[in-house]
Amino acid sequence: MNPLLRASGWLDEARVSEEREPEAMALAAATADGRPSVRMVLCRGIDSRGLRFFTGYESRKGRELDANPHAAVAFHWASLGRQLRVEGPVSRLSGADSDAYFQGRPRGHQISGAVSPQSRPIASLDELRQQTAELTRRFEGRDIPRPVTWGGYFIEARVVEFWTRGDDRLHERQRWDLEGGVWKPTLLAP
Ligand SMILES: Cc1cc2nc3c(=O)[nH]c(=O)nc-3n(C[C@H](O)[C@H](O)[C@H](O)COP(=O)(O)O)c2cc1C
Repeated sequence: MNPLLRASGWLDEARVSEEREPEAMALAAATADGRPSVRMVLCRGIDSRGLRFFTGYESRKGRELDANPHAAVAFHWASLGRQLRVEGPVSRLSGADSDAYFQGRPRGHQISGAVSPQSRPIASLDELRQQTAELTRRFEGRDIPRPVTWGGYFIEARVVEFWTRGDDRLHERQRWDLEGGVWKPTLLAP
């Protein structure tokens, strides 16, 4: 069995039952010398090999992932009493994949993605608002090109863990490890 198919099913169920942000996941990255950082991002798809998300390549997470290309994510779906964890190596999506996703975003999101130097200090939000207005005028009637500093990452799953809430804290934890191309299940104590 491929646990990513079940993971994708859990995300689909969360899209129905979770009131807000079913795709939100905590993403952990670390510097080359192993100092961790974590923040929420949106999962934009789970396939049979892993999952994808989009961000600024020069953001803190982008710089950390480029220097140390490994990530861990965790979803929590309170409505379902479930947690899903995925770990593995990370790579950038192709330019074509990032372009395809970028072109489907609302225009306002495209523009803010283009003007925001994500994770860098700024003098004020007004500065970004002005740049947003300027870019909106400059590209009137035309597509906004994807900035080269913005795009997707793919986390190739090597570990997947399904956590299901149980009575009296006897939660079920099923961990899957990819070993030699084969997924191996293990039941873990809660
Ligand atoms: C629910 C939620 C979803 C978010 N989704 C994204 C996302 O998909 N991509 C992204 O770059 N930032 C997203 N953010 C903002 C990040 O949490 C973070 O502030 C930003 O990416 C900068 O992080 P960094 O400085 O660690 O790189 C989201 C925040 C929240 C609260």
